[in-house]
Amino acid sequence: MDCRNEIAVVHNGIIENYDYLKLKLEKDGHVFKSETDTEVLAHLIEKYFHGNLESAVMEALKVVEGTYGIAVISSRDPQKIVAARRGSPLILGIGNQEYFITSDVSASLAHTRDVVYLDDNEVAILTKNGYETKTVQNVSTYKKVEEVLWNIDMIEKGGYAHFMLKEIHEQPQALRNAMRGRIDFTDGTITLGGLISREKELLETKRIVVVACGTSWHAGIVTEYMMEELLRIPVEVEYASEFRYRNPVIESNTLVIAISQSGETADTLAAMREAKHKGAKVLSICNVVGSTIAREADCGIYLHIGPEIGVASTKAFTAQITVLYLFAMHLMRLRNILTQSLPDMAQHIKSIPEKIQSILQREGEIVEIARRYKDTEHALYLGRGYNYPVALEGALKLKEISYIHAEGYPAAEMKHGPIALITKDMPVIFIATQDSVYAKVLSNIEEVKSRSGKVIAIATEGDGHIAGKVDHVFYIPKTSDVLTPLLSVIPLQLLAYHMAVMRGCNVDKPRNLAKSVTVE
Ligand code: M6R
Repeated sequence: MDCRNEIAVVHNGIIENYDYLKLKLEKDGHVFKSETDTEVLAHLIEKYFHGNLESAVMEALKVVEGTYGIAVISSRDPQKIVAARRGSPLILGIGNQEYFITSDVSASLAHTRDVVYLDDNEVAILTKNGYETKTVQNVSTYKKVEEVLWNIDMIEKGGYAHFMLKEIHEQPQALRNAMRGRIDFTDGTITLGGLISREKELLETKRIVVVACGTSWHAGIVTEYMMEELLRIPVEVEYASEFRYRNPVIESNTLVIAISQSGETADTLAAMREAKHKGAKVLSICNVVGSTIAREADCGIYLHIGPEIGVASTKAFTAQITVLYLFAMHLMRLRNILTQSLPDMAQHIKSIPEKIQSILQREGEIVEIARRYKDTEHALYLGRGYNYPVALEGALKLKEISYIHAEGYPAAEMKHGPIALITKDMPVIFIATQDSVYAKVLSNIEEVKSRSGKVIAIATEGDGHIAGKVDHVFYIPKTSDVLTPLLSVIPLQLLAYHMAVMRGCNVDKPRNLAKSVTVE
């Protein structure tokens, strides 16, 4: 047969059996112009085309393995767009006599706030007379039109040079929004709408497993330390990509917490489905309302911090920790566990936004440190206890936007290998706040200094001791140990940002990275 160039496809996802399909199509006479898996879809739809585009798309998708969010047009069935999804997000924006097919609600926000979330194995057929939705098996479905509560201002830079910088500075307000209406600051009572009528399951929970990726995984480690300290419940934190393929042991009284800013991360979604399949209850911690993870979880807590657009996650990290702290307080009251006073905990979290603001006002000090180290090719981040995940997060921020090789480690692990990296030039960033492991961290600093390493310390205001031991120090206000990451991560976000900008990097769109990773 002749390929007639009459089908065009936009595709987000990966066609896993594309090799096999391509071979078969080539045997049938199809001629390929590229090496992409997406082109297979166009030829496949062409193969099944007999005058009606949606029928051809449905037939083609039956033999496809993998993930896709697609939009298809054909010159032989014009006046029609066919969209479909499996495993990749797909949203239909409903405008005024216009439609938008997107993989993220913020993409159509400038035109409409009315959206329809397509489900897996669903197809939407758009014509000038309207739209209809069906399953790939050609059964009609009914979809509710939902209103997105974000507005256009939220997806603009608002005078900042980059979204990342705007989002770093939004954190005080973002955390107030994440707490709004959820906490009684006098007695520490927590109200989480998404958990109403879940008390029985929460009381029966014997073990918590957190699944997440990237920065959300780091928030998961903070959660592990927090929940074990406050609730005395065993918590494990798993990379979602590992969890999904290793046949994990899950009992019915396991609560799985899926943390994902976007709510669309393919590995986290698959891990959550695996956990549900094994009988666990799943609680989602998402920012994007209506995202797949949020919709498929048994219950959830939204961050309510507005869209996060910079590829480097900043305000989502601090908001995830904030809502998980509220969740821990909620469980403490439910289970009558009084490891700490709930009113005191409420007062501690109440003061966090103001403390972050005071750190942001001293951004100039971080700019100076960034200027001093912007040309380094390596950096090491070390912390212990609650600041261990902050060390990981600081290193991730730096490497993803500045392309400087950075590693995060628990400080005491340094002597088991990374200490060999210490030179007089490489900056070692210690998070050395005055918490329960402060003295231990000080001795780790001495180990680095005695090898002529350069040390930048993030320390607690009023610490009169540390300045004499390190090369640079940035002070942050005192808070409870468990909330320290909310403060100690802020200078590290700023440091990564300014070093990247000074190196001429595109911080909002770093190379090779996407905001939401919808492929495995
Ligand atoms: O949307 P998610 O929270 O599920 O995303 C997870 C990671 O892809 C994300 O945190 C990524 O690591 C960021 N680029 C980190 O800044």
